[in-house]
Amino acid sequence: MLDRIRAEIAAHGPMPFDRFMELALYDPEGGYFAAASTLRSSTGGDFLTSPEVSPLFGSTLARFVEAEGDRVGLPLTLIEAGSGSGSLLRPLLDALTEPPDAVYAVEVSPAASSRIAAMVPECIVVESLAEIPRAGSAIVIANELVDNLPAAVAVRRDEGWREKIVVLAGGVLALDERPARSEVASWSEAFSGRVPEGAIVEVQLEAGAWLTDALALFDSGAVVVIDYGDTAAGLEHRRAQGTLRTYRSHHLGPDPLLTPGETDITMDVNFTALAAAAEAAGAVVTLDRQDEFLARWGLRDALSDLRASELEAARAGSTMERLRLRSRVTDAQTLLHPRGLGDFRVLAARR
Ligand SMILES: C[S@@+](CC[C@H](N)C(=O)[O-])C[C@H]1O[C@@H](n2cnc3c(N)ncnc32)[C@H](O)[C@@H]1O
Repeated sequence: MLDRIRAEIAAHGPMPFDRFMELALYDPEGGYFAAASTLRSSTGGDFLTSPEVSPLFGSTLARFVEAEGDRVGLPLTLIEAGSGSGSLLRPLLDALTEPPDAVYAVEVSPAASSRIAAMVPECIVVESLAEIPRAGSAIVIANELVDNLPAAVAVRRDEGWREKIVVLAGGVLALDERPARSEVASWSEAFSGRVPEGAIVEVQLEAGAWLTDALALFDSGAVVVIDYGDTAAGLEHRRAQGTLRTYRSHHLGPDPLLTPGETDITMDVNFTALAAAAEAAGAVVTLDRQDEFLARWGLRDALSDLRASELEAARAGSTMERLRLRSRVTDAQTLLHPRGLGDFRVLAARR
C-alpha cells in the first residue's frame, strides 16, 4: 500500500486525509479491510467488539428489532452493515420469534464475508448498501462501522479552517496542511463545537452520507448506529490531539502513515453530525448510551436469569455448568461497563 500511495501522490500531488484513509482501509488489493484474509474483529484479530464479547448483544437487539417490526409492519427486511463474523446477526436471528422476510449482511472483507455465509446461511451477503433493493419496511444495524469510514482531518487556525494532507517528504509519507476544501470547512464550522486554535477535528462527511443512503433503503424503519464517540460538545475536550488512532493486536497501534493497509484507522464518531444527517433525511433521532439502551431492551433481566441459573447450578453441585454460566455473566456485564462498552453511543434514526 505504501508504494501505491507514494505513486498516487507523485502523480497527482498531496492527498487529503480521507483519500489516504480510503486507500489504507478499502483498497481492494491492499486495504486493511477489503484485502483482509483474516478476521479483523476477533480474539485473534486487532479488536474485540460487543457481539464478539457476548451473544447477549445480538439477542438483546432482537427485542428492539421485534418492537420496531411491530411499529413498521411486514414484510420486514433486516440489514446488518459491517457484519464482521456474523456474531451479532446469528444470536439476533436465533432470538426472534418470527424470522424477517429478507436478511442482508453488508461486508467488504472477503474473510468476514465467507465467515458470515457459513454462520448465517439464511442471509444474502453483499459488498455495499447499493446492492440491496429498496424495501417498504427495514431495520439497518451497524455496530462499529462508521468509525472507520474515511474522514478528512481539519485544523482550526486563526485565519480559518485548514486541513491535513498527506505529502511525500524525502520519499516518506508526512502530514502537511492546506486551506480546507469548502465542504470540509463548513462541516467543521457546524459540528466541531467551541474549540480553540490548533484544535483537530475529524470531518465525517462520509459517515453522514452512509446514514443518508441507509435511510433511503426503506419507507418505514430504523437505522441503528452503535459506536464509540459522543456529541460535538462531548468531544470538545479531545480536540487538542483529535481522536484519530490506529489499533493493532488489541492495543493502540503506530502512526497511521507508517504501515497503511496493516492497521485499523479509526476515530470517535461525532453523533451530533450523524443526527443532523438523519434529520435532514426526515428521520426522528434518539441517542442513548449503550448500557442504557441494552438495559431498556432487557439485558439486565437476561443477566438476572443467568445469575439465577448459576446459583441453581452451584446448589446442584454442577461445577462445569456453574463456571460456564459465570463466564456468560461476566461477558454480559462487559457490555454494560460504564467506562467501557457501556459508554458507547446508540443512535436510532426512525422513520
Ligand atoms: C470493527 S469491525 C465490526 C464488525 C462487527 N460489526 C462487530 O461488531 O463485530 C468493522 C467491520 O465492518 C467492515 N466494514 C468496514 N467498512 C465497511 C463498509 N464501508 N461497508 C461494509 N463493511 C465494512 C469490516 O470489514 C469489518 O468486518
